[in-house]
Amino acid sequence: MVTDEYWKYLEKKQAELKEKVAKDHWRLRFHLMPETGWMNDPNGVCQFKGTYHFYHQYVPTNPHNGEAMHWGHKTSTDLVHFKEEPLFLSPVNDYDKDGVYSGSAFVEGDYIHYFYTGNVKLPGTHDYIFSGREQHTVHVVSKDGYTIEKQEVVISSEAYPENMSTHVRDPKVFKRGTTYYMLLGARNVNNEGNILIYTSDDLECWTYGGVFFGEEYSLGYMWECPDYFELGGKEVLVFSPQGIASKGDEYNNAFQSGYIIGKVDWETLTFKEESDFVELDRGFDFYAPQTFEDEHGRRIMFGWMGMVGSLPEYTNPTPSRGWQHAATLPRELVIEEGCLKQYPLEAYQSLRGDESEVLCEANQLQTLYGDHYELLLMAEQEIGDLELRLKEDTKITYSHGLLTLKHGVSGCGRKERNLVIGELRDLHLFVDSSSVELFVNNGSYVMTSRMYPKPGEKKITLIADKEVRLTKWELS
Ligand code: FRU
Repeated sequence: MVTDEYWKYLEKKQAELKEKVAKDHWRLRFHLMPETGWMNDPNGVCQFKGTYHFYHQYVPTNPHNGEAMHWGHKTSTDLVHFKEEPLFLSPVNDYDKDGVYSGSAFVEGDYIHYFYTGNVKLPGTHDYIFSGREQHTVHVVSKDGYTIEKQEVVISSEAYPENMSTHVRDPKVFKRGTTYYMLLGARNVNNEGNILIYTSDDLECWTYGGVFFGEEYSLGYMWECPDYFELGGKEVLVFSPQGIASKGDEYNNAFQSGYIIGKVDWETLTFKEESDFVELDRGFDFYAPQTFEDEHGRRIMFGWMGMVGSLPEYTNPTPSRGWQHAATLPRELVIEEGCLKQYPLEAYQSLRGDESEVLCEANQLQTLYGDHYELLLMAEQEIGDLELRLKEDTKITYSHGLLTLKHGVSGCGRKERNLVIGELRDLHLFVDSSSVELFVNNGSYVMTSRMYPKPGEKKITLIADKEVRLTKWELS
C-alpha cells in the first residue's frame, strides 16, 4: 500500500525517469504512452460532458512494472490531442493495496461510475492463483472524472462462487432496461476461462447470476477483460483469453484478445456463440482492449499496444530510457456484412501535413521518405503482389493471398506474423517512431506491432506487380 513516504519516492523517481524519457527518440508522436514508467491496459475509457477520459494501468515509478498499479489519466476533446492529468486511482486502501487493477466506466446522468478490481496479495507461501490473493470489485463515483465522491467494495473476494480460483477481475458494467449488469473475467478451479455475470438495481448491491459464458465453451485457462456490446444488430462479446495453443498462423502471441458474435438469453443470463472466436489484431503487440460508446454513438476501442510475458519476442529496449508500452490508436468498430470491422478514427486526419501521392507503375521501385506518417495503398481493382519496406528493416509483403509483417533486428525479437486474406483491396498504415498499425481491406483485419529502428531511418520503398496508388501524409 502506498504511504506518505511513497509520494516522495514517486516524485523523485519520476523526475529521474523524465530525464531519460526526454532523450528517447523512440517516444511516440501520436500515441498515448506513460509519462514515465510502465503502462498496460486502457481502463474506464468514456466520454463525459464532452470530454474523453482515458485511464490506464500505470506504474509511474518503474518501467518494468513490479510495483502496485495505479490508474493513470489523460483527457481529450477530440481523441487525438490528449492532456496528462494527475493519477486518478492509487493503491491506498486495504482492499487494493497491491494494485488498482483493470476496470471500466459507466456514465449515467451527472455521474461516472467506475468499477475496478482491488488486488490484494496475502503474506505467506501461496501460488496466488488458488490461494493467497483477494480480488475485490470496487465501485467509485465521480461527478467530473477527476475527483472521487465515493469509493467502496461492492463485491468482496469471498463472495465469488466457490468453484472460482482467486483470479476474478476486470468488471465491465452496462445497463439494459432498468437493470445493471456486470461481467467479470475469471479462471475457475479446473483452470478454465469463464465470464461471470452479476445484476443490480442500484449499482451498489450486486446479485450473482451465474456463468455468462464459458461453461460450455473452452478456450484457455483464464479470461481477462470481458466486454459486451450491441452493434449494428449484432451482439459482441470481447475478452482476452490466456492459454490458447497456437494453431498455424493464429494465436501466435503469448496471450490473445478477440471477440465472438452471439446472442444473450436475458432469462438465463447466458451468452450463446454464433461465430468462432476471432482475434482482433494479428500483429505482435495488442492485448486487453476496452470499448466504450461516445456521445456521438460511436463504439470506440483502445487496445494496449503491448503484451504480457517475458518471451524474447516481446523485448522492448525502452525501459532503460525510462518507460515501456503504449496504447493503440483509437479504432471505431462497425459491423458490416455481419463482420466486425475496425476503422482508424477520422479525427486523425487533422494530423495530416505534407501529402505525396504517387501512381506506382508495375514492377518499378518507388522510394519515399517519412518519419511519422500515414500511408494508403489502393488500386483500381485488387492490389497485386507487393513488397513495402519501411523504417530500418520492417517489411510488409503480400503474395498469393498471404500478407506478412516481418521485422529484422529492429523488431527486438519480433519476427514474422502471417495473415491469409485471399485478396488485397487496400492497405492503410499508421507509422509512428516505434510502432506500426496496419489496417487491411477496409478494416477487416489489423496488425499492430512495435519496432525500434535506429534514428534517421526514413526510407519507404514499394514494389508491386500491378499499378498501385500510394498516398502518404506526414503526421504531426
Ligand atoms: C490485463 C490484466 C488484467 C488485470 C491487469 C493488472 O493485462 O492482467 O486482467 O486487471 O492487467 O495490471
